[in-house]
Amino acid sequence: MKFFIDTANLDQIREAQDLGVLDGVTTNPSLMAKEGITGQENILNHYKAICAIVDGDVSAEVISTDFAGMVKEGEALAALHPNIVVKVPMIKDGVKAIRYFSDKGIRTNCTLVFSAGQALLAAKAGATYVSPFIGRLDDISTDGLELIEKIRLIYDNYGFDTQILAASVRHTMHVIACAEIGADVMTGPLSVMLALLKHPLTDSGLETFLADYNKSQGK
Ligand code: G3P
Repeated sequence: MKFFIDTANLDQIREAQDLGVLDGVTTNPSLMAKEGITGQENILNHYKAICAIVDGDVSAEVISTDFAGMVKEGEALAALHPNIVVKVPMIKDGVKAIRYFSDKGIRTNCTLVFSAGQALLAAKAGATYVSPFIGRLDDISTDGLELIEKIRLIYDNYGFDTQILAASVRHTMHVIACAEIGADVMTGPLSVMLALLKHPLTDSGLETFLADYNKSQGK
């Protein structure tokens, strides 16, 4: 299972990279805005900075909603670095753009996916990744994990290569359930990755080991 960090914050990306378990980065226009990255040139430079930190796929999202605009933006993004994956929304022109990019060998991440039918279309169009937003489904009392299960079943039925990138991950149980179901990737905040570390028995056990060692050394 690949771990992507879902942020445009360079310090957090560095921290996850230093941990040694990071496989890539996902961003979106909201996350870029949160870091105060504005203006096309700054945005492109920020993607380059992210690619310099992480040796893995970096999703960079198009802003256009029409086919021609998405193609123009996506080609410029893909030219920035070989690890850039063009993130395209699940809309009609987005599906066409994914097919276009796929035929040209440009990798894509189909975003804002909330149903199995959308995930099937993304795979048919040749998306490299599909991003079902599980947290946002949970927010509206719909089981996000059930969607991951459905997509896994459908993709396995037909041998689609599209990787399931569980997005909008909010807590550790999302990560563990996605791993059980067989999502290929999860993307979440640094806090979720660090929370996977935590267990009170680990902390108390370590405390006892160190106390016993110190006693045995006469300290
Ligand atoms: O990867 C998608 C993600 O950025 C959305 O997460 O927490 O805003 O639903 P969230």
